[in-house]
Amino acid sequence: MDHSQASARIDELRVILRENSRRYYVDNAPTMSDTEFDMLMHELEALETEFPDLLTPDSPTQKVGSDLATRNDFVQRPHRYPMLSLGNTYSIEEVEAFAQRADKALNVDFTYCCELKFDGTAICLTYRDGRLLRALTRGDGTVGDDVTENVRHIANIPQQLKGDYPPEFEIRGEILMPYEAFDALNREREANEDPPFANPRNAASGSLKLLDPEEVGHRGLWCTLYHIPAQCLDFETHDQALSAARSWGLPVSDERRICRNIAEIEAFIDHWDKQRKFLPYATDGIVIKINETACQKALGFTAKSPRWAVAYKFKAEQALTRLVSIDYQVGRTGAVTPVANLEPVQLSGTVVKRATLNNADQMALLDVRVGDWVYVEKGGEIIPKITSVELLRRPADSRPAGFPSVCPDCGTPLVREESGAKWFCPNQDGCPMQIKGRMLHFLSRKAMDVLAGEATVDQLYSLGLARTPADLYDLGEYQLLSLEGWQEKSARRFTESLAASRQVPFERVLFALGIRFVGETTARELARHFGDIDALAAASREQLLEVSDVGDVIANSVYDFLHEPRHLEEIARLRAHGLQFAVVRGQDALSQALEGKTIVISGNFSVSRDDMKELIVRHGGKNSSSVSSKTSFLLAGTKPGPEKLRKCEQLGVPVLSEEAFRALLPETPETLPEETVGQTPVEKQLSLF
Ligand code: IVH
Repeated sequence: MDHSQASARIDELRVILRENSRRYYVDNAPTMSDTEFDMLMHELEALETEFPDLLTPDSPTQKVGSDLATRNDFVQRPHRYPMLSLGNTYSIEEVEAFAQRADKALNVDFTYCCELKFDGTAICLTYRDGRLLRALTRGDGTVGDDVTENVRHIANIPQQLKGDYPPEFEIRGEILMPYEAFDALNREREANEDPPFANPRNAASGSLKLLDPEEVGHRGLWCTLYHIPAQCLDFETHDQALSAARSWGLPVSDERRICRNIAEIEAFIDHWDKQRKFLPYATDGIVIKINETACQKALGFTAKSPRWAVAYKFKAEQALTRLVSIDYQVGRTGAVTPVANLEPVQLSGTVVKRATLNNADQMALLDVRVGDWVYVEKGGEIIPKITSVELLRRPADSRPAGFPSVCPDCGTPLVREESGAKWFCPNQDGCPMQIKGRMLHFLSRKAMDVLAGEATVDQLYSLGLARTPADLYDLGEYQLLSLEGWQEKSARRFTESLAASRQVPFERVLFALGIRFVGETTARELARHFGDIDALAAASREQLLEVSDVGDVIANSVYDFLHEPRHLEEIARLRAHGLQFAVVRGQDALSQALEGKTIVISGNFSVSRDDMKELIVRHGGKNSSSVSSKTSFLLAGTKPGPEKLRKCEQLGVPVLSEEAFRALLPETPETLPEETVGQTPVEKQLSLF
């Protein structure tokens, strides 16, 4: 690979790794398995080693994944000592290489403390005078979210220590959700039509960040502690530190062993690779730590992990079962996904009945056939994958599975996406699965959060009462009461829930519209950037590309969607029903100082451009991306666009510096006059021009 190819691949890997890190740590909804993620990280590390000039400090190889909440739901506090990650290994040879590196650097006798690698979410607890003072998540390793109140509701974390504890110290560990609590939570979520968590790790992490500490207490979380920073308390060995912590009443696992050599480490790994199936919580490997604290101190840390510890990751658990049949599911976008129905089998603590086959190419690659015995593995997602076929057990009369050429729901010939492996049903307006899928997405919790599920949508669709979300708002309680199975209570619940959805903020309405590639985050960015649907619909493809994280694919998808007459008609109907199609100044409003003003911004400011735009909206103004005669003023930072400045001069549009602009804003909302008499501060400022 030459330098420019390496540079392109490095950029690509960084984008993929950052995106998946966010999905894993922040959204608690990974779309890639841990192994796939680790492999890509290894590839990036190898390229950066080969081409050291391409290594940058912000590379994912140099930073721990961040779990910091994006919505400022928690106070963020600095860690006293950075909270790092661990290097991963996948074979005993790699563990041996770690041991040899340490041996060479130390030149003294030392031992290893081998422990389970608990698969939860990291936590850092501080105790002062024996009382729990603070609990921080790992965050980005430097600052973490303060989740102290939530942690006080986790049953096995003591509020008060016993015995001979030191006056103040930090201890780190993992918050886990045992399988039993996980299954109960997902059963409850499915009954409430909430999406289930993909695995106990995501459930633990999502639960730790709930906003209601009482609710955290009901989630059955559990804690295990495994590390006291050596800078904090001076014990001779790590093992002694953990024993002491246990004597103070802290939850420390007994499942650790002091090993003297690789053979003993290997025996510990082999033992737990088999026995972990019987543990009540998830583990994903073994952690091997150099036990003597003097040696730990001598070895120190890299930017991301200690040199005195390494993780050995278990291979994903597999199960062998029979493939009974294959369903072809049509999603709301028309994509057809093959899903395997399996003979139920136990895998990593849950019973697996279905597995994804991804797409036609994957099916052909595996040459998977109905009646085959197949290996299933759990990736990052809730639906496991089929990874291979046991050919020795293939029935003699089996035939290749093939892929349908027409939509299994409406019979329309399928088309293949230009640049992908997916087949699509192009009948967007007539395919029942797509129509119902779009309505279900619209109603879902993260979108409009309306209390209605598949059965309701099925019924309303098959009776011809609803084909689009706007139809749902046309339905009255009386009409529902005349339908089979509806009672006063359920009809009221549904209509009240629809009525409440009129308060759902614009960003979620935008997400609910189901524009392809526009997930929650992109919808939020678009809403923040444009302020309302009219500005968004008027934006050119180039203007859409100005939004952070929006590339060609998203920009084209948004543009095409908003230039389709039937979508505009649907939006107009939803708007007439009172749904939010503009960022409203509710709790977030700071003032009305910019009421009625349309502002264009250009250049760089003391804060990011998106923050500046948000400031405009929160003071009642409207953002626009191009200068016209309707522009109230151009807010120009350093290096404003010359084209924009010229246009302002031509049209006589005032130009304000950041300082002049800030002078227009009241310091706090309370300083706003009740009623503005005469000129508003903005008018005064503008009259100077
Ligand atoms: S020690 C300075 N011990 O695994 C290193 N970590 O993939 C401190 N983990 O960030 C970590 N079990 O959240 C350590 N027995 C164990 C662990 C463990 C799970 C987690 C921890 C760490 C992550 C790295």
